[in-house]
Amino acid sequence: MSSDDGLPAELAAIVDDANVLTDPDLRSRYETDWTGRYHGEARVVVRPANTSEVSAVVRACAHFGVAIVAQGGNTGLVGGGVPRNREVVVSTTRLNRCDAVDIAASQVTVGAGLTLAQVRDHSRASGLDLAVDFAARDSATIGGAAATNAGGSRVIRFGTMRAQVAGIEAVLANGEIVGSLAGLPKATVGLHLPSLLSGSEGTLAIITAVRLRLVPWYRHTATALVGLPSLGDAVELLAKLRRALPHLDSVELLMPSAMTLVCEFLGHPCPVDAASGAFVLIECAGDSDPMDELINALSEHAPDSGTAIATDETSRANLIALRDNVTVAINHIGVPLKLDVAIPLAELAQSTREIEGIIARLAPTARLINFGHLAEGNLHVNTLFAGDAAGAITDEVLQLVIERGGVISAEHGIGVAKSHWLVVQRGAAEVEALRSIKQALDPSNVLNPGVLLP
Ligand code: FAD
Ligand code: LAC
Ligand code: ZN
Repeated sequence: MSSDDGLPAELAAIVDDANVLTDPDLRSRYETDWTGRYHGEARVVVRPANTSEVSAVVRACAHFGVAIVAQGGNTGLVGGGVPRNREVVVSTTRLNRCDAVDIAASQVTVGAGLTLAQVRDHSRASGLDLAVDFAARDSATIGGAAATNAGGSRVIRFGTMRAQVAGIEAVLANGEIVGSLAGLPKATVGLHLPSLLSGSEGTLAIITAVRLRLVPWYRHTATALVGLPSLGDAVELLAKLRRALPHLDSVELLMPSAMTLVCEFLGHPCPVDAASGAFVLIECAGDSDPMDELINALSEHAPDSGTAIATDETSRANLIALRDNVTVAINHIGVPLKLDVAIPLAELAQSTREIEGIIARLAPTARLINFGHLAEGNLHVNTLFAGDAAGAITDEVLQLVIERGGVISAEHGIGVAKSHWLVVQRGAAEVEALRSIKQALDPSNVLNPGVLLP
């Protein structure tokens, strides 16, 4: 390891002075995460513009023995994208390659730094669409979404980000550029690099470009909000809707605490009976209008429930805003303890009651806000004002989730927030296997040390 005094100059020789940020004011927005919970000082922030520059930056950092944190849109919620110990932050937002859409293959190759919204708009200009969507779409990057195996609202139809990554290009810890952007759907030539890197959270490589599968752009949508007596009723309705709605695109959940909060935040009245025990936001999308399909299914399967159906783009946007703004509304009040679990649907209602009981017992004055993605049993458990009980809440809730056959992170990742819980979920043998892969690819632990693996 050499003294790192010369590192900024060496980085500037690779990317130019303007893209090596040493000034604390310029660095600061890269140093704190979206929630405000995680913060650390970066040695320097560097913004390479292409894959060769990423490779040269990684080689320079390796030469100086300095660790790297890859950062995309900095919308991650588990503290994995901000520095902790004076690492170099490699910001990917200038990796903005944007190839023409390959309509025959229904794929597109893009740089890791494009946002989800940019790729969605680019795809739609060719009549295709990006399958993954969630509220941070204007900032979250394709590289970040792949690195976290992001989910969002359309997983019921198209799967998570992992299912969209047909090819990948990445820079390893030694600076080598690896991968293929050919995107051939059939390729059985050994271990699948796109799968290995999806969900690796910046610990195995820096993703520089992704070959994405695209889906049809369904221009006709039908959207409804349904208020049900309980979460158990919502799960029962989901089972019926899966059969009744061939164009089902998303089934999202707001528990009453989330609905109350977001209505306060937006200044909107609750569009259905505010005394409901669970609110489900349903969207269908197709090449022809799926409205009759949705109305018929709801009148058959939820005849006694309060329902608000979007009649135009404005009313649709208002319904979707209720779900999209929950996370923003929570952060508006304070920095929450965020847990992102998935529980088998058969256990979801009972487990949610038990989670509410745990938090009421451990932090009686806390404010719990539950919401999520109903179709995947994905519950976002957000506790405001948890205070000193945060650790005990995390322990008890995650233990319960594991006992019920669930997962301790459904879509946000492990980051630094859950790293010491990984072994409880995966077991010692699997964690050792994961550690061996990390050791083989990054023997000096240069890439995102402290994230994912404890
Ligand atoms: P960052 O936050 O910059 O980084 C996240 C992780 O990925 C870090 O570990 C980082 O090191 C790594 N990383 C980033 N880029 C690269 C790269 N090019 N190569 C290697 N590693 C990299 N997530 C969901 O899954 N579903 C949701 O519904 C959802 N909704 C959200 C709503 C809001 C309002 C917010 C703020 C966040 C939400 N998220 C959601 C979480 C977040 O947006 C996703 O995790 C997203 O994928 C992160 O992308 P990013 O570019 O911001 O990554
Ligand atoms: C959401 C984020 C928090 O679903 O994952 O809104
Ligand atoms: Zn989510």
